[in-house]
Order: sequence, then structure tokens, then C-alpha cells
Amino acid sequence: PFLDPVPSVPALYTSSGFSILAFVTTLYLVPALGPRFVQANLKGRDLLKTYSTPIPESQGLVCASVYLLSLILFIPFAFSNVFADRFSNQQKSVHGLAIDEFPHHQLSVYLSSIISLMMATLLGFLDDVFDIRWRHKLPVPIIASIPLLIVYFAERGNTNVVVPKPLRPLIGSLINLGYLYMSLLSTFSTNSVNILAGINGSEVLQAITITISVIVNDLLYLPWPIDWRIPLHLLGNQSEIGSEIRIGGVWSAGMAHGSRVLVERHLFSLYFMLPLLGVCTGFLYHNWYPARAFPGDTLCYLTGMAFAVVGIQAHFSKTLLLFFLPQILNFLLSCPQLSGMAPCPRHRLPRFDPETNLLHPSTVAFERPPSMRTSSTLHLLSLLGLTRRTKHPKSGQIFEATNQTILNLFLITLGPMTEKQLVKVLGATQVAGSVFAFLIRYGLAGLVYDG
Ligand code: UD1
Ligand code: MG
Repeated sequence: PFLDPVPSVPALYTSSGFSILAFVTTLYLVPALGPRFVQANLKGRDLLKTYSTPIPESQGLVCASVYLLSLILFIPFAFSNVFADRFSNQQKSVHGLAIDEFPHHQLSVYLSSIISLMMATLLGFLDDVFDIRWRHKLPVPIIASIPLLIVYFAERGNTNVVVPKPLRPLIGSLINLGYLYMSLLSTFSTNSVNILAGINGSEVLQAITITISVIVNDLLYLPWPIDWRIPLHLLGNQSEIGSEIRIGGVWSAGMAHGSRVLVERHLFSLYFMLPLLGVCTGFLYHNWYPARAFPGDTLCYLTGMAFAVVGIQAHFSKTLLLFFLPQILNFLLSCPQLSGMAPCPRHRLPRFDPETNLLHPSTVAFERPPSMRTSSTLHLLSLLGLTRRTKHPKSGQIFEATNQTILNLFLITLGPMTEKQLVKVLGATQVAGSVFAFLIRYGLAGLVYDG
């Protein structure tokens, strides 16, 4: 009978090697190509500095190129175990044994992910060059995620069969909701980092923290050399696999099919996350205060899509969303401005005071008196301490409010601080969010289930 090829753990070492290479290449290429970006008019002024030297913008393109190249060069290694198997089977086939099949499904998972990442890079770069409008760029990640969803569906298609007939209409519709959720996830992950931006290092620091969280989560599922049993319900996907996964021990043909699948999925996620960590850390070096390179929307879209890719393809899209807690808060806080209820200026980043070198919450003026709905929303946000509004002394009408972002919220609650301090606060929040996410994912799940 056909046996799945054993997931190739040694390929993980190769992937780590590629990641180090990606780190070094990005570290070198970003400053080397900076002047060419400025020449091509891909430059921006650092709005929170006194100087106006043009900073190369959109250098996420360098990261994207290095990242995609690493992923493409890695493809043969991801399947090295199949090549090895085939070689030994060819020798066996002399004795009349069947040659196993190539894991086309895994290959399509891999290739569809690369297509989605390329589309995200293209969209991000076009956004940097043309400043695309919100309503035009929002649906693009959804379209970019179609290849992922089809591949997901192809795999799910097999498992659907086990759903009892009477339940099929119900579960079928649940599955459809799942697809809607996953396609919206790609739009959320690509845009949410982009709108929590504007201070040196912010975008890439968020991306790095989420990447590390995903990597740690993936490592929980690998066969460690120690014999360590984790009750499977904590790791999820209960329906597909038995009741327990044996983490550790030796790979063997007797390994449950389900746990193989889990390991394969998380290995896949690691293959995509490790080089991402490489390019992002290489880039952070140049983007750290005072920034000598800007990521542009290209990096935000690339990293966001990479998270959607692993969340969907490795089947942990709900856990993934837990790593986006600061982005979810920032998005919810931004809703009045993003929906057009309150005015939304081109830049919502904090205000810089050149005298003291400190950042203050930035404000937006209301050209027209706000509607009742807007006023009451702002009053409510202000009561909760989430925004600060200025009222006309006589009429009591709001004529100015702080921009609703969590960066401004930090400045409102913690007081004015330097850009470097603010980015550290953002980083600390992101790390705290991830720790909280792990507690919810593995701690609370333990309270709910026994074992
Ligand atoms: C998003 C935010 C916007 C924020 C901007 C900053 C929303 C809806 N949009 O817009 O409020 O001001 O990101 O990136 O929330 N810049 C700096 N320092 C940095 C990074 C960027 O000054 O560390 C400035 C530079 O002038 C750079 C520009 O921001 O050229 C890039 O802005 P861009 O990424 O095009 O803005 P959006 O993503 O459209
Ligand atoms: Mg941006």
C-alpha cells in the first residue's frame, strides 16, 4: 500500500541554512541598493525627524526578492526525502515492488503559497508606487488567497466524505464560513500591520514577533528526540487524528497517519517562516531608529500574506489570529476613521516635537461639526481613555480629536516619549500579546478539556 513519505526533518536544517543566507543577503543588499531606490524616486521623508534626507522607501522589495528566491531554491530540498525514497524504490522495483508516487498535493501547497506571496508583493509594490485607494486594494489579498483556498479545499475534499449524510448540509455551510474567514484573514493580515506603522522599525518588529510566535508554535508539533506526550486535543485537529500524538521517539512506518500530517504541516510552516525571519531581522538592522531604509507597503503585504499562507495551509488560522492581538485592537480603534465616520488624514503617525525630541499624540481637525453618531462614538472612546477630544468651550461640539491608533493610545496613557521608546513599547506589547495568545491557546484549552 502507498505510504506517505516520511516528513523530511533534515530539510529543516537546510531551511535554517537558507534563512541565515537570506539574513546575510538582506543585510548586505538593503544599503547597497538604497541609492538605486532613491534614484528611481522610491524615497520618503522621515516625518518624525528634523532632517529631510531622502530615505529609500519600499525596500521591502529587496526582502521579498530574497525571500521568494530562498523559497524557490528550497523546493528540491523540501522533497529530498521523496528523491531518496524513489532511489531506493527503484532498486527495489527490480524485484517487482511498486515505485511510490510523488506527493503532488504537498507540491501544490508549496506552489500555490508562492503564487499568493508573489501577488502580495506585486500589490504592495504597486501601492508604494501609485498609492492605491483603500477600496481598490482591499479585495486583492482575497483574490490572492484563491490558490491557497483551492488547495485547502482539495485536501478537505477527502475528509468531507466522513461527515454523516444528515449533517452534511449543516457542516457544509460551516465549512463555507471557514473559507470566508480564511479569505478575510489574508486581507486582515496584510493591512493590519500596514496601519500600525509610521515609527522607525514598527512594521518589521511586528512581523518578527509574529514570525517567532508561529515558529515556536510549529516547534511544539515536531518529533523531538525526547519521549514527550502532549494530549492531542491541546494541539487541535482532533477530528482528523487519534486521541494522542506521540511527540518524540523515532520516525517509523507505524507512526499514525494523523500525526505525520500534523508534523508535515508544521514543517511546511517552518519552511516559510524561517527565511521570513531571516529577511526581516536583516532588514530591521537598517530600519531601526534612526531608519536608513523604509519597508514600504511591499514588506507589510509580503509578511501579512506569508502569515495567511501558513495559517491556512498548515491549518492553524485561528491560532494565528491570536498572535495579531495588538493589530486587532488597532484595527478596532481605527474603525471610526477607516469607515469615514471621523476624518482620516493621509498620515496618522504621532506628532513630533523637535524642541524636546518627544512624540505626542497626533490630532485631526473636524472641518464640519461631527454628526451625532460620530460625536457619541468619540465621547465613548474618550470616556474609555482611548482617545482625546477637544470641545468648543461654548457649543460643546468636538472640533479636534486624536487619531485613533494604539501608538497614539500609548502616548495618551504613558505620556510623551521618544520614537525609540515608543517602538520598544510596541514591541513589548506584541510580545505580551503572543504570550497571552499561547496561554489562551494551550492553557485555557487545558481547562476546557481534561487530560
Ligand atoms: C499607513 C497609515 C498612516 C501612517 C503610515 C505610516 C492608516 C490608515 N494609514 O499609511 O496613518 O502614517 O502608514 O507608514 O493608518 N514614515 C516615517 N517613519 C517611518 C515609516 C514611515 O516617517 O518609520 C513615513 C515616511 O514619510 C514614508 C511614509 O510614512 O514615506 C510611508 O507611508 P505609507 O506606508 O505609504 O503609508 P500607508 O501605508 O498608506
Ligand atoms: Mg504603509
